[in-house]
Amino acid sequence: MLLLVKNKEDWSKVHSLSIGLLGLGTVGSGVVKVIENHQDKLIHQVGCPVKIKKVLVQDIEKEREVQVDSTMLTVDPAEVLLDPEIDIIVEVMGGVEETKKHLIQALQQKKHVVTANKDLMALYGPELLAAAANYQCDLFYEASVAGGIPILRSLVEGLASDRIAKMMGIVNGTTNFILTKMSKEGRSYDDVLTEAQRLGFAEANPAADVEGLDAARKMAILSTLGFSMEIKLDDVKVKGITEITGEDIRYGKQFGYTMKLIGYAHRDQDAVEVSVLPTLISNAHPLASVNDEYNAIYVYGEAVGETMFYGPGAGSLPTATAVVSDLVGVMKNMRLGVNGKSSVNPQYQKHLKSDDEIYSKYFIRFCIHDGVGVMTKVTSIFATYDVSLEKVLQHPLAEEKAEIILVTHRASRENFRTVMTELREVPAVVKIESVYRVEEGDTV
Ligand code: NAP
Ligand code: HSE
Repeated sequence: MLLLVKNKEDWSKVHSLSIGLLGLGTVGSGVVKVIENHQDKLIHQVGCPVKIKKVLVQDIEKEREVQVDSTMLTVDPAEVLLDPEIDIIVEVMGGVEETKKHLIQALQQKKHVVTANKDLMALYGPELLAAAANYQCDLFYEASVAGGIPILRSLVEGLASDRIAKMMGIVNGTTNFILTKMSKEGRSYDDVLTEAQRLGFAEANPAADVEGLDAARKMAILSTLGFSMEIKLDDVKVKGITEITGEDIRYGKQFGYTMKLIGYAHRDQDAVEVSVLPTLISNAHPLASVNDEYNAIYVYGEAVGETMFYGPGAGSLPTATAVVSDLVGVMKNMRLGVNGKSSVNPQYQKHLKSDDEIYSKYFIRFCIHDGVGVMTKVTSIFATYDVSLEKVLQHPLAEEKAEIILVTHRASRENFRTVMTELREVPAVVKIESVYRVEEGDTV
């Protein structure tokens, strides 16, 4: 018999814990496998067997990666969410509005929730966490950022005593795979994207991956926890990788940089900036050698200094590991009778830096008519706005044109934008081909 009130006092009488699974796709199948294959370890950690009781899917007839008893499958959310014997809901179905309603309903039923859904947590995280606290339930979401890397717990628990000044992340496997193959094998963007879809890293509709939105959602979650400040998705400046060319990657290499899609979150005193931008990062920085579909998050804490967390950011079993570890966390809390008490409200009011407070180095590639005084005119614009040049390369092109490649010293985003506006108005400037953020890897 199953007891409905499961806490410290009556734990010895608990015979098993029941899970309701929402979704049985890539991650859901991995969750079933990890729970089955690691049952001994789970029993050792939580003191009783852990069983999946019901699974919500869209299509009951569909062939599955894992064998589950067909009587467990349902297309009716209420059969899972309202089942009084289910203790914990694991949400691995994706989606936002409908899924949010399911999770609120689960919490109202006093069921704890574990989710891998970054889209949902980036948009409604604070609201859902408040609902969970209100119903004395846990809501854990480790798998929503960087799949198998336990980065959220590391920020919240491992680095709890420190003040985090900076986080830089390669948090999207698809874009890292594409950029690695373009850079190391000279392949085209379209060709590698097709391979990433075939290998299952990219979403069926890869727009959120390649346009940077998936990484922005993860950076909103990371920076909210790391800086203890409510950072919303709209606070993250985003640009994806769709315009990166082989030329940009090659010129970057000549200057000693590797092209990566970098999530960047920086705090100066109490003002922060968060962005996801294609970035030329110094080959000396540890993130430059994170390749293929791997993810990594570099965290600089004022006391600890530099740390880096590396691993698989997606995939069935890696992501399921994070989901089931969250389940263990919920069950340990049930055993101690402390559910709903682990989330901490943000400590600080949000203060986003303005463009004149954001400093960076920049890479620019542009085409000019190669005439007398053109470079003098170009460099005078940079000088007028206090943007100093660090590296300069000029290549002659056909028809008396030339390609100029520059790397600036650190400049404010506002001044740099003004330089770009004025540069576009110079008659001898034919086209600005590309502009990227440059990261040397200064610790703060
Ligand atoms: P998936 O393979 O597409 O699986 C989704 C599952 O949910 C399917 O079983 C589907 O049912 C079910 N489902 C979807 N919408 C439903 C609805 N409205 N009603 C009932 N069932 C529904 O997705 P996934 O890759 O496992 O991703 C799941 C979640 O984990 C997403 O939030 C994703 O962002 C997150 N995540 C994924 C990864 C990864 O590596 N894949 C990594 C980190 C986080 P049918 O099977 O019947 O169609
Ligand atoms: N499409 C995502 C990626 C899956 O490529 O990283 C994991 O969130």
